[in-house]
This record gives sequence, structure tokens and C-alpha cells, in this order.
Amino acid sequence: MKKIKVSVLGANGQLGQEFQYLAGKYETFNFSFFSREDVDITSESAIRKMISDVNPDYIINCAAYTAVDKAESDIKACYDVNTIACQKIANAINGSKVRLIHFSSDYVYHVYDGMPLREDGPTEPKSIYAKSKYEGEEILRKSGIEVMIIRTSWVISSFGNNFVKTMLRLGKERSSLNVVNDQYGAPSYARHLAKTILEIIIKLNEDPTLSDRFNQTYNFANEGVITWYDLASMIIKEAKLPCIINPVPSSAYPTQAVRPKWSILSKHKLKEAFNITIPHWHAAVKECMDAIVHNK
Ligand SMILES: NC(=O)c1ccc[n+]([C@@H]2O[C@H](COP(=O)([O-])OP(=O)(O)OC[C@H]3O[C@@H](n4cnc5c(N)ncnc54)[C@H](OP(=O)(O)O)[C@@H]3O)[C@@H](O)[C@H]2O)c1
Repeated sequence: MKKIKVSVLGANGQLGQEFQYLAGKYETFNFSFFSREDVDITSESAIRKMISDVNPDYIINCAAYTAVDKAESDIKACYDVNTIACQKIANAINGSKVRLIHFSSDYVYHVYDGMPLREDGPTEPKSIYAKSKYEGEEILRKSGIEVMIIRTSWVISSFGNNFVKTMLRLGKERSSLNVVNDQYGAPSYARHLAKTILEIIIKLNEDPTLSDRFNQTYNFANEGVITWYDLASMIIKEAKLPCIINPVPSSAYPTQAVRPKWSILSKHKLKEAFNITIPHWHAAVKECMDAIVHNK
């Protein structure tokens, strides 16, 4: 059977490395991975060259400017990668049969109504990062290319830097830690997200009637509702570290970029569209911690 050709951009980030980790486990795909050095997504000619060299069926764009606080003073660099590059990717793809899978953020919502945030609900991106991600989404939705946009939250992984790794490090160094307890959300284990994307591509390949479900915006996160305090407490307990976690309000930790207090994503649309199940956050964090311990 003909293999599905997948090009992964931003391949050295958390999510990109999870695709690299999974690559050997799937016979179905022929992967090509591109770090920033290989393909800088701010260069349309670099993207065009990659497409002409590889002729991919899918491009998975894991590249992003993710330094949320730095973005407040580094506006151009953030927009170049999160917004303007979306137009360049779309230009390079336009007219071809290449499908794009792109990732966005829970930050685009920034609304609180006590209910899981739905893809068709209101968006009020507030920080530079959030606005740059939302405007990137809009460019892609209007571009005419085939694009699936996945809004995800609180990304964790055994690769790169993230909250789990920070807690494991600080939990060894300190006897107590203050962690905010008034921002609600759920982690997204990047390995689960990457697996979900690959399963969706397989399903699309097996059943062409699902094609009209591709060109959509979806949410993804692990199941459940917690705060950062809950997450930190679980990590410290699971790692058996003698560190006390104290719950504090966000006001105790002023940040340059405002954080949403409510990041509970409804996963209903994605689960229904592709008949998938998503693991609970607790199992996801345990799996991620196990991957960190075993260096995989
Ligand atoms: N991290 C989170 O908590 C979070 C939450 C919600 C949504 N998301 C979204 O999820 C997606 C994946 O995030 P992640 O956590 O995997 O991000 P990440 O670990 O920060 O990785 C991003 C990657 O993009 C690369 N990159 C930056 N500029 C580039 C450019 N001009 N050309 C090519 N590559 C470039 C970076 O390269 P360098 O290593 O060289 O900098 C890095 O490898 C992103 O769209 C992000 O916005 C993330």
C-alpha cells in the first residue's frame, strides 16, 4: 500500500519531537522532519522547496513562537512566526493537494462562562501571543487551502521544557512551592495529541467520506478539569518528593502576558467527528512522567 507522506515542521519542539518518537511505530507513514534550521517557516521559498522536494500529502506545522511573556515585548518576532508565516505556508500550499494540520491555543478564547469552551463560541484573545495565534488561524481559514486547526492547552511532554519538568526540578530543590489555584484547564500530553493526529489521518485515508470533516477547527486536551495547583500536587505526589505545594491566587504571580482563568476545552466536536477517545489528564501525566524517567 502507498505510504502517506507527512512533513513535520518545527520538528524539534515538544510536539514535533513526539511525532519523531512515534514515527517508527507506524508503517503507514513516510515521515520527513524539519527543524527551524531545515525549514524556517518565515521563509516562503524554504517552504516551497520542502514541498517540491518531498511532495507531502500532509504538512503538520508544529512550529510556533511560544514564549508567551516575551512576546509582549517581542511583538514582531511573535507575529512573524505565528501569523505571517501562516500566510506563507498557505501561499506555498495553494493550488496543490497538500493538506495542512496546524496548532493553536486555548488562549484564543479567554472567556469564562463556566462551560467547556466550544470551537463555535466567542473568542477574545488578549495577549500578543493569543492574538498572533488567532490571527494565524484566521489567515488559514480564509486561505482556501485544506487545513485542520487544533486548539490545544497546557502542552506537556518528555521532550522540551514544560510544567511537569519544572515541577520535578523545583520539587527536588525546594521544600515548598506556591502554585496558582484559580486557573482551570487540563494538560495536553503532546504524545496523545500526536497519536490522535496520526489516527485521524489514517481514518481519513481509509474513509474518504470523512474528508469534509478535515477542513475544521477543533479543540484537543486530555479529559478532566484541574488547576495548576492540582497538577503540581499530583506530580509531586507521584514523584514522591518531600515538597509542600501551597495554593495561591494568580494575583500572587503577575506575568507580562495575561493568562486565561478558564481553559476547559470541549472535545466533543473532535471525538464525534473521528470517533476517538481521549485519555484522562491523570493517566496522561503519569504516562508523561514515566516517559521522562525512562528518557523516551
Ligand atoms: N506549549 C504549550 O503549553 C502550548 C499551549 C497551547 C498551544 N500550544 C501550541 O501547540 C503547538 C506546539 O507547541 P510546542 O509546545 O510543541 O512548542 P515548542 O516546544 O515551543 O516548539 C516550537 C518549535 O517551533 C520552532 N520554531 C520557532 N520559530 C520557527 C520558525 N521560524 N521556523 C521553524 N520552526 C520554528 C522552535 O524552534 P527552536 O527550538 O529553534 O526555537 C521549536 O522547535 C504550537 O502551535 C503552540 O502555539 C502550545
